[in-house]
Amino acid sequence: MRTFQVTTTVTEYASDAELTADDRDLLNAARAIARDAWAPYSQFYVGAALRLANGEIVTGNNQENVAYPSGLCAERVAIYSAGALHPDVPVLTIAVSCRSGLFEVNKPMSPCGACRQAMAEYETRWNQPIRVILAGEQGAVQVVNSIRDLLPLMFEAGELRKDR
Ligand code: THU
Repeated sequence: MRTFQVTTTVTEYASDAELTADDRDLLNAARAIARDAWAPYSQFYVGAALRLANGEIVTGNNQENVAYPSGLCAERVAIYSAGALHPDVPVLTIAVSCRSGLFEVNKPMSPCGACRQAMAEYETRWNQPIRVILAGEQGAVQVVNSIRDLLPLMFEAGELRKDR
């Protein structure tokens, strides 16, 4: 047997004031669209904003359903929308933020596993990393340079082939 470590790199900023203007704009777009989320059951309102290679920004927010599993997270609403509306344009950066109707969110949003896998698909599709900016309503902001840093040991296309 062997034991090995998988490392991941996260850059943390004390607040959004330390971000570049472009990154802060994208984060603010995520925060703005979070306000329009449909989340009456969890009261947890998530927004995602994607910057595309052509400069366009695509946004999405979580859409809940009374049949709970039928809802969808903000990240997937946004990235599937980008894939549908701009099929030929790579995604460069994704900002994700959230707020709650129950408490103040003062630490970075942590995307769920299914959304990490969904976002990873677009790195494979475009063969280039996607930066991710994670924040709450206020407080620290975390940045990773690739979805791989959020999803080590991920399931990849090569797994489907015998000769991988
Ligand atoms: N949610 C997201 O939109 N993104 C995530 O990465 C985690 C969770 C949503 C789903 C649900 O509407 C609410 O947050 C509570 O789980």
